[in-house]
Amino acid sequence: MTKKTFYTDALAHPIFEYILKAAADLHLEAYVIGGFVRDYFLKRDNKKDIDIVAVGSGIDLARAVAQMLPGKPKVQVFKTYGTAMLRYKDVEVEFVGARKESYNENSRNPVVEDGTLEDDQNRRDFTINALALSLNKADFGNLLDPFNGLKDLEAKIIRTPLSPDITYSDDPLRMMRAIRFATQLNFTIENDSFQAIAKNAKRLDIITRERIVEELNKIMSSPVPSVGLILLHKTMLLERFLPELTNLEGVEDVDGQKHKDNFYHTLEVVDNISENTEDLWLRWAALLHDIGKAPTKKFHQTLGWTFHGHEYVGSKMVYKLFKRLRMPMNEKMKFVQKMVLLSSRPIVLATEVTDSAVRRLVFDAGDNIESLMTLCEADITTKNPMKFKKYHQNFELVRQKIKEVEERDHVRNFQPPISGELIMETFNLKPCREIGTIKEAIKEAILEGEIANDYQEAYDFMLKKGEKLGLKIN
Ligand code: CTP
Repeated sequence: MTKKTFYTDALAHPIFEYILKAAADLHLEAYVIGGFVRDYFLKRDNKKDIDIVAVGSGIDLARAVAQMLPGKPKVQVFKTYGTAMLRYKDVEVEFVGARKESYNENSRNPVVEDGTLEDDQNRRDFTINALALSLNKADFGNLLDPFNGLKDLEAKIIRTPLSPDITYSDDPLRMMRAIRFATQLNFTIENDSFQAIAKNAKRLDIITRERIVEELNKIMSSPVPSVGLILLHKTMLLERFLPELTNLEGVEDVDGQKHKDNFYHTLEVVDNISENTEDLWLRWAALLHDIGKAPTKKFHQTLGWTFHGHEYVGSKMVYKLFKRLRMPMNEKMKFVQKMVLLSSRPIVLATEVTDSAVRRLVFDAGDNIESLMTLCEADITTKNPMKFKKYHQNFELVRQKIKEVEERDHVRNFQPPISGELIMETFNLKPCREIGTIKEAIKEAILEGEIANDYQEAYDFMLKKGEKLGLKIN
């Protein structure tokens, strides 16, 4: 008989005592499995989702547990999946009956049969996620680890319990999950598994875009997202859902003139920005900031490689990309579009910092000016230390100027100092084109620094402008 190892300290949460009692009453076996056990051994933040496997009916077990718990929480039953969920204190507990699953070639929906704990562990994605702890009286806390998941945890390896071809083909989302875990945990994907992902990459197409994006967002939220993005690229998964990005790969050479590889540059920008922000959408902006470069790339005899208008083209592509991937079509998308559109503005400024250009930048970026500066600083990937230093110093100057201009001119959330009504009243006008012309001229004069952002100066300017347009004062 193999030696048993107990980890009762992992089961200190009161919920486990209740599950033990309910399982004993129902004469069935119960185990905690998956992420909760994995994260216990990894000493990661105490996980709030707990997955329970019952050898028998998971739904019956959930109901029995709920009956015993103070306050008798509601049990949510998902009949089609044979699962049930309840909340108790700070945790969300999901119950499922142990099962065997087999999948059909063209669908994610498996044929399910009742099974043993071992059958259930077999159908899990990775050895590190198949670890189970007993919740049964006889061996409470005993670790059941048929695939040496604990060893893989220590060696930092992502490995499938069965042949990777079977595990990935059964549920292709697991290919994304393998890369996501490798990125989050800084693990290596075992070689056979890696090859199987590359081989089965096309199977990802049966997975809904929402689920793909959910994994991608976890990769993007990791400390060094490029780890996952490179793995996605090498396994040819990335081109299946983000071809805009993989199209940036490569360096062309015409008469010895080369441009940089914008794919690898982008990855560097994403890593740089991730050191300075946790904001997922700002990280997305970094990921997409150069996507307009593939369709706008041209070689010009005297100018060399150009990407004219790539910021504008890129921001339009953001819309299509978000739509295709069923990502939020709300202010998050607009924010990413805006960042892409404005992504070259501060760097242009860094060579010549004029007040009016800074004022215009603050006017256009509004409350997103800080995010934009963070993006543009991350965009400095030059390997030339002199240039690196110079660009950063110039950005310091731009930041300083932004502060000065803001304190003086308040153009961040620009409110016209003179209203359309006042213009109409002053010149006795009905609604007409001249009103817009005067308002625009006032705004331009403020942004150019000809007048201050101030009522009296704007009023005097309006009178002069009206006179030039041949208007009579009321
Ligand atoms: N699982 C699986 N295949 C999937 C998804 C999940 O085998 N495609 C199994 C794994 O055993 C996993 C468990 O179901 O550990 C719970 O899945 P989930 O809650 O999605 O992930 P966690 O492993 O708990 O990790 P995280 O919370 O970080 O997503």
